[in-house]
Amino acid sequence: MSPPAGLRQHCALGRAMAVVAVGLLVIVGTYLLSSPAAAGDGDTEEKFFSDAGDGDDLEAALRGAAYANGTLILSVLNRAYAAEDGGLLDLFLRSLREGEGTEQLISHVLLVAMDRPAFLRCRRLGGVRCYQLPVALDGNDDDLSSEQLYMSDGFIRMMWRRIRLLGDVLKLGYSFIFTDLDVMWLRNPLPRLEYRPAEEDLLISCDQFNGWPDDYAGNELNTGFFFVASNNRTVALFDEWHAARAASAGMKEQDVLNEMKRRGALRRLGVRARVLDTARFSGFCQDSRDAGEVATVHANCCRTMRAKVADLNAVLAVAAAGRRLNGTSPVLRWPPHSECVKSWT
Ligand SMILES: *[C@@H]1O[C@H](CO)[C@@H](O)[C@H](O)[C@H]1NC(C)=O
Ligand SMILES: *[C@@H]1O[C@H](CO)[C@@H](O)[C@H](O)[C@H]1NC(C)=O
Ligand SMILES: *[C@@H]1O[C@H](CO)[C@@H](O)[C@H](O)[C@H]1NC(C)=O
Repeated sequence: MSPPAGLRQHCALGRAMAVVAVGLLVIVGTYLLSSPAAAGDGDTEEKFFSDAGDGDDLEAALRGAAYANGTLILSVLNRAYAAEDGGLLDLFLRSLREGEGTEQLISHVLLVAMDRPAFLRCRRLGGVRCYQLPVALDGNDDDLSSEQLYMSDGFIRMMWRRIRLLGDVLKLGYSFIFTDLDVMWLRNPLPRLEYRPAEEDLLISCDQFNGWPDDYAGNELNTGFFFVASNNRTVALFDEWHAARAASAGMKEQDVLNEMKRRGALRRLGVRARVLDTARFSGFCQDSRDAGEVATVHANCCRTMRAKVADLNAVLAVAAAGRRLNGTSPVLRWPPHSECVKSWT
């Protein structure tokens, strides 16, 4: 007796599904067996992310990114900066991949996400370390994910949240280069910082360099790129800096630091600071005069993200052309920063 037609069909379907399932198992099995060798480092990266990325264990994230000497590279991103394809995050990473001696630095970069979408985008990139900042207890940081237009309330709050984070990093004993995402890394900055460990605490970029590295009072400091060593003096500086927020309504953290500096806070706290020459650590406020030595280009003196993206793209194109010429061309000519100039009008 043959089974009823319906059941027969059912069995055939079942067999077909079994065949498909076995096929899938074979495919998945093959993938699993082959991927550790194929994926190499990527696998440990993934593991790192799942261990340290989701919790609020800042220490573990820092340890994962730092060199043996406790130094790492830190940047902060939110949803808008992490926007898909061609945003500032992409440009920043592209500069590291293409730059001279910079690709090796990527594994020492920790990207701190201010919101969940930024964190998820960061993780999707693969090969970069991401950490999500826990939401502040005061609940005030919840809307920091949109583009924070220069000097808007949200922009200022995000800046302060960043200062608190950086102070925490110093307290945990880590020294770091802080970089904004709108800073392109064209060459490895580490050797070009010429850091003297026993003598210096803070190396910081400026808008216009007046020629005197020791004159931190006379140069307008820019907090988009700096190196800070972890010690009691710098911990005290960041504490005082963050505490000044209450008395500095409507001011951004950079202006507050410049104001503290004018009032002699660095001297009082014993923080030994040096200003970085724009020849090596440049920006749109003052182009580098030494294209052969320039390490970083910051889209400062620029108001909107769209303008920064346009003008930084032009910088990367010129830098790439310069690398292709391999020093055989005369001095590299910077493109005009026309979109940024227009962004103020
Ligand atoms: C830490 O070590 C790295 C890698 O050796 C080196 O490039 C960097 O200059 C060191 N950082 C400091 C602050 O000494
Ligand atoms: C600050 O000073 C104390 C006591 O001198 C020392 O134990 C501690 O390690 C120092 N902290 C940093 C971050 O250097
Ligand atoms: C670039 O120039 C240097 C010397 O100036 C040379 O050693 C190197 O091979 C050149 N690289 C390419 C890709 O041409």
